[in-house]
Amino acid sequence: MRGLSLSPVVLPEVRREAGVELRKARLEDVDAIYWLIRYWAEKGLMLVRSHSHLYENIRDFWVLEDEDGQIVGTVALHVLWRDLAEIRGLAVHPTRQGQGLGRWLVLGAEREARDLGLPRVFAWTLQVNFFRALGYRVTSREALPPKVWSECNACPFYENCREIAVIKEFSPGAFRG
Ligand SMILES: CC(C)(COP(=O)(O)OP(=O)(O)OC[C@H]1O[C@@H](n2cnc3c(N)ncnc32)[C@H](O)[C@@H]1OP(=O)(O)O)[C@@H](O)C(=O)NCCC(=O)NCCS
Repeated sequence: MRGLSLSPVVLPEVRREAGVELRKARLEDVDAIYWLIRYWAEKGLMLVRSHSHLYENIRDFWVLEDEDGQIVGTVALHVLWRDLAEIRGLAVHPTRQGQGLGRWLVLGAEREARDLGLPRVFAWTLQVNFFRALGYRVTSREALPPKVWSECNACPFYENCREIAVIKEFSPGAFRG
């Protein structure tokens, strides 16, 4: 059974060609988001997020739902300060990689950021080239305010962090709409 803590995550099978819709997450999506993130966390590509974290932060999350009702992607936009938000929890179902869904999710989060009036977003990531393809640049940790390390204390990789900070500044004309 999928819920046993030591068994590897087995995600639901999805159809690669199924149509997809981007929408804000709902509470009923939390299990699917949890397993999708945990699938990649077990491969060392992202941090696992607890159910508690997901429920508390559900309003940050977007999901891609396919026409069969399966959640095939997720992302969160977490506002940290008046001029900065973090893109977190970005994950695409393994069967649906390389179809532009990751880009769609990040652009959705960026649109929300611009609508809120944020001038920039950043992410901690091991997928630097993916973010570069979307117009992000690598930045130094020191260039970001200490707020961005808010979650580091609880991170199992605190002593040995490999994640790289990437940032995207929106051009003034691209703010709302
Ligand atoms: C990273 C991830 C979200 C990308 O999603 P995806 O749907 O496969 O990516 P897309 O198809 O939208 O790709 C968008 C662009 O990025 C490029 N790209 C995607 N993954 C890439 C990678 N790992 N390295 C370099 N470029 C990459 C694509 O070629 C594409 O560029 P193009 O439009 O110029 O052809 C997905 O691979 C994933 O879920 N990875 C595991 C979890 C993870 O690492 N999450 C990131 C945590 S910050």
